[in-house]
Amino acid sequence: MLVYLNGRYIPKAEALIPVDDRGFLFGDGVYELTRGIRGKLVYEEGHGLMLERGMRELRIGGPEVLTREGLREISERLLTENGLAEGDATVYAQLTRGVAPRLHVFPENTPPTVYMSAAPFSSPLELRRGGVSAITLPDIRWARCDLKTVNLLPNVVAKQRAKEAGAFEAILLRDGAITEGSSTNVFGVIDGELRTYPKSNYILPGVTRDVLIGLARNLDFVVNEAPIFAEEIDRLEELFLSGTTTEVQPITKLDGQPIGDGRPGPVALALLEALYQHLGLEASVAAR
Ligand SMILES: Cc1ncc(COP(=O)(O)O)c(C=O)c1O
Repeated sequence: MLVYLNGRYIPKAEALIPVDDRGFLFGDGVYELTRGIRGKLVYEEGHGLMLERGMRELRIGGPEVLTREGLREISERLLTENGLAEGDATVYAQLTRGVAPRLHVFPENTPPTVYMSAAPFSSPLELRRGGVSAITLPDIRWARCDLKTVNLLPNVVAKQRAKEAGAFEAILLRDGAITEGSSTNVFGVIDGELRTYPKSNYILPGVTRDVLIGLARNLDFVVNEAPIFAEEIDRLEELFLSGTTTEVQPITKLDGQPIGDGRPGPVALALLEALYQHLGLEASVAAR
């Protein structure tokens, strides 16, 4: 597997980062996970903007370090060189504040570390069709969840707790409302209307979330960017997750209780189908 590190394409085993890298020492970095389908980055603009925003807000590198064109060119080369140009793949990009002696303050004149890699991906259609379970946990993250930083410890711990509970995802609750999942955004259907937490500093506004809101409106679903409160959970007709690799993942059980009739609902399945079409993927999820 060939990866990209600081301007070079090298075998992954040779891609080594010094122990003084601030990504290692402080989690001082940003990342983005995109999808490469038939050799092309999908939703490149949204993912590029997310990365640029994180770099700008945290002052990691300048726009010249990884432009949107650079992101595309490196991604496409990694897909081609790794034999992934025909199928479905993910592309990972990470930038850290670079290598410097361990002091909290930002180092001066230190170039960022830029790393990118690609891996094959195949959509787990059976999980989508069958639905999965989730648990709720308190959202104990910081107040800048809108930045996609590699500082993911609360998310990692939440996902582990979900796994240990036999669940697929941990759905996080802040101030009595569902914010998002540990690595996904969350949508619910109440009284036939779609709801998802509004864009704010308390969620990572995923690219898939935006795409799904557009697709839902095209399908004439009413979308309300408003919180789902804990006391409304038993009124949920449907609940589902969204994300680059999670696509549209129906949740059929939350904290051991069925959601709706305990099966993936029509809105989630319609959106999954619409997303596959939008991505140019062929899998059909129609049958309920
Ligand atoms: C906390 C969190 N929310 C939402 C998402 C979904 O974002 P996207 O749709 O851009 O993959 C992610 C993806 O990494 C995430 O980590």
